[in-house]
Amino acid sequence: MPAIVLVGAQWGDEGKGKATDLLGSRVDYVVKFNGGNNAGHTVVIGDEKYALHLLPSGILTPGCTPVIGNGVVVDLAVLFEELEGLRARDVDTSRLVVSADAHVIAPYNRVLDKVTERFLGSRRIGTTGRGIGPTYADKMNRVGIRVQDLFDEGILRQKVEGALELKNQILTKIYNRRAITVDEVVEELLEHAEALRPMVRDTGLLLTDALDDGRTVLLEAGQATLLDVDHGTYPFVTSSSATAGGACTGSGIPPNRIDRVVAILKAYTTRVGEGPFPTELHDDMGEFLRKTGGEYGTTTGRPRRCGWFDAVVGRYAQRINGVTDFVITKLDTLSGLETVPVCVAYDVDGVRHDEMPMTQSDFHHAKPIYEELPGWWEDISHCRSFEELPVNAQRYVERLEELVGQRVSAIGVGPGRDQIISRHDLLEG
Ligand code: GDP
Ligand code: IMO
Ligand code: MG
Repeated sequence: MPAIVLVGAQWGDEGKGKATDLLGSRVDYVVKFNGGNNAGHTVVIGDEKYALHLLPSGILTPGCTPVIGNGVVVDLAVLFEELEGLRARDVDTSRLVVSADAHVIAPYNRVLDKVTERFLGSRRIGTTGRGIGPTYADKMNRVGIRVQDLFDEGILRQKVEGALELKNQILTKIYNRRAITVDEVVEELLEHAEALRPMVRDTGLLLTDALDDGRTVLLEAGQATLLDVDHGTYPFVTSSSATAGGACTGSGIPPNRIDRVVAILKAYTTRVGEGPFPTELHDDMGEFLRKTGGEYGTTTGRPRRCGWFDAVVGRYAQRINGVTDFVITKLDTLSGLETVPVCVAYDVDGVRHDEMPMTQSDFHHAKPIYEELPGWWEDISHCRSFEELPVNAQRYVERLEELVGQRVSAIGVGPGRDQIISRHDLLEG
């Protein structure tokens, strides 16, 4: 039965959490397959607002099994804090399953993330400081600590010793920081090991068995296409595979089991952290989008950089992910504008680019070529069908659909669970 991948089409914070929650009651498993607590998903249910970082948004849906896949990096303290916070609000968290192969964020990696950023100065990435990059680097360097290592203290100690040998040299000799002891790391990692043990499974096996049994599996990406380590605006990216391809490696589900790919597109563009952003607005309009859209990071509280919709980015996301359906979010934020500019292509040193430039240096120099679309004044947050939208809002969606080359199957008109216009069923195709 269907496996559906859900990805961010831009630089993150498109509203993936809300979209996952929307599908939640119709899926049996929601799997987080990449990233860690660098993600921040806000889900609004009635008067309740939930901010999730590490847990898949499916945790909020009764009956749905949330899964932390092998591609995720897990900060154990954050995991248990988040579970505790949800339990205190009467959310049933007992179904959570965690992959034995997921990597664990060790305390030295949090320290290294922060000191490296400080060291880089003006060349910093603007990371979330959660230890994400160093933990993925350890995974690739084959010195990572995995969830399964927590259940054999001898093995864990050996691995931590091995990792610290080099890290302490770096911390003390390059960054002038104190050395970290094996004991303090092992102690922190073991603190939650017993509580974690019953949740740990071979999640690849669990999920393929579930598909064989006719269950529906939703694979939810953290971050987004342009933050993907391979396909994003490198080096201003996160350190994991946030595109549809990553859903397979990060979960253990083979590519030929994936049926649909849903990409979430904000009706305009935002970015947190450093890196190129062609349609960024540094004027009152940027402030308008930030204020009206409430564009402040869920994880770090940083104001998000804001700009107009970029169709080159949308088309690129369509191609890289093989998108079958787009969901446009935050259309309501654009109400009240005379015209809404949409970037349709770039001008790079006098040459028009309809596709993403091949090199980062060209992308850095890309100047947006805008098309002005007529705006609308009405508050659209109460609309529940496409026809109820003002004609110009309908045209805006239709033009975006044309520009990105795939259908728009749902439109968000507010943060609430019910504030959505559905045009095509996301699960059935
Ligand atoms: P994610 O990281 O992709 O899950 O997105 P975030 O949760 O970080 O940011 C999206 C924000 O937009 C959240 O505060 C959502 O509650 C909110 N949101 C989602 N969809 C809509 C929408 O259609 N309209 C409005 N106004 N807010 C939305
Ligand atoms: P969600 O899932 C927006 C950005 C950081 C930084 C870069 C690298 O909520 O969409 P990292 O800590 O991952 O090494 O930082 O990636 N970043 C995000 N931006 N939304 C996110 O997640 C992000 N996760 C990481 O701001 O620029
Ligand atoms: Mg977010």
